[in-house]
Amino acid sequence: MKFKVVPKSLSDISAGAMVILQDEAFAMPRIESAAIAKHVTAFSAAVLIGECKREWFCTLGKDAGVRTQHLLLESTSFTPWMPGMERMKTTAARAVEQCRAQNINSIAFAVHGTESVESACAMFEGAVLGDFQDVRYKTQAKPRKALELQFVVEAEQAAAVRRALEEMEPILEGVNLARELVNQPHHDLTPAALAGAAAMVAQKHGMKVDILDEKKLKREGYELLYNVGRGSEYPPRMTIVRYVPKGKAKISDHIMLVGKGMTYDTGGLSIKGADSMFKMNQDMGGAAAVIGAMHAIAALKMPVRVTAIIPSAHNAVDGAAFHPGAILRSKKGTTVFIENTDAEGRLILADAFARGAEEKPDVLIDFATLTGAATRALGPRLAALFTEDERLRSIFLAAGEKTGDNLWQLPLWREYEAGLKHHLADMNHVSCDKTAGATNAALFLKHFVPEKARWAHVDIAPVACVEGAKARYFSTGGTGFGVRLTVEALKRMVE
Ligand code: BES
Ligand code: ZN
Ligand code: ZN
Repeated sequence: MKFKVVPKSLSDISAGAMVILQDEAFAMPRIESAAIAKHVTAFSAAVLIGECKREWFCTLGKDAGVRTQHLLLESTSFTPWMPGMERMKTTAARAVEQCRAQNINSIAFAVHGTESVESACAMFEGAVLGDFQDVRYKTQAKPRKALELQFVVEAEQAAAVRRALEEMEPILEGVNLARELVNQPHHDLTPAALAGAAAMVAQKHGMKVDILDEKKLKREGYELLYNVGRGSEYPPRMTIVRYVPKGKAKISDHIMLVGKGMTYDTGGLSIKGADSMFKMNQDMGGAAAVIGAMHAIAALKMPVRVTAIIPSAHNAVDGAAFHPGAILRSKKGTTVFIENTDAEGRLILADAFARGAEEKPDVLIDFATLTGAATRALGPRLAALFTEDERLRSIFLAAGEKTGDNLWQLPLWREYEAGLKHHLADMNHVSCDKTAGATNAALFLKHFVPEKARWAHVDIAPVACVEGAKARYFSTGGTGFGVRLTVEALKRMVE
């Protein structure tokens, strides 16, 4: 990621293209060039009289008195429904896309207005996330040059903007890392490979990592995780990554992040249909979010202790696969009746929570592509937040709003816990009532939350992947949902 913050006037900038994003207030940077000013006026007029001009791309002649070859004006007014800075990010992503289409990779963004730090961050974020391309499985992909971004700011803002963008960079790397992990097919990203990816991030930043393999999982009584992975030729893993800040932590709370790492979910013997199964390599989106977040947390040297736990398995079918009707003993000791092998996420998370309890976390946050019910309730742009902790609720909702990893709270309605009873085992992992599916899954998890830990569960089944057309600044595929959210929430916790 190449970027520079330059406190120069626009006419001194040399770049392939100069991008000016125009909001509905028509706020503008200082423009010394009469040629550019002319284009800006014409563009503004066109937008004002409703000519529906979304952008204006032009080549600047020598007489323009600037060193940039092209000018791209973009209007942010086409996406008025978008929350917060999402419009700015989306417009910046579109600007980069337009430049790329013209083979331009060196782009200068004019940053202006009173909130230049926030605006520059949004442009940077939109540009980097919007430019993400996953060509690992394309044999004909043309190599592209890396983006060279410049942010042109007022001199007095330069230091603050530079600092903010430097802080943003590892977060965006974390998001794009998570997207790559989510995109990778199950035969390449096996539970062992996912553990390896976590270990690689750990090693890069000098974090400690433990990986429990299938033998250890069996021996140590992780019967839920072990059984979910039993029908596959790719055996399960549990990975633990520990981040301990070098100096004194700003808060004494020990934070734990848990991410569902199903590298593929066929549904098991309660098998999925063909139209939903083929997407199920995304079922490790929670794990990807946690790995991406750990990268950012360590790179930013955040002053808080964070431990990540990643239970990972491949839910497949062979003669050894766990069966509906089984009664399994969880690591915690609770016996669980298996009604439906497709409700496997909550099982591996339950054993991860039990492992987590040994580390005595004060706060536990889990990310999981857990239920289709969450998607039916919220649609494709919102993840479901479940928590009974008032502080976590407000921190996470605000962090979602700020980052664009948007959340909506759903209830942990205690009355429904009765539905998880079973006449033979301590619990059924699915409820006898099939209506509030996302809540029922969360209520099952609640039983396994370590004592004294404040807990929030984020069901990211709706948002782990974008399907079909581009969403905001995300192309089809993994979104890395949860990385930006986690880092922002942690920032708010330590403040
Ligand atoms: N991995 C799925 C949930 C999912 C659905 C993730 C769509 C991403 C996109 C999960 O393991 C699952 O199959 N849940 C079942 C639970 C049911 C059997 C109680 C579901 O939601 O249908
Ligand atoms: Zn499933
Ligand atoms: Zn699943």
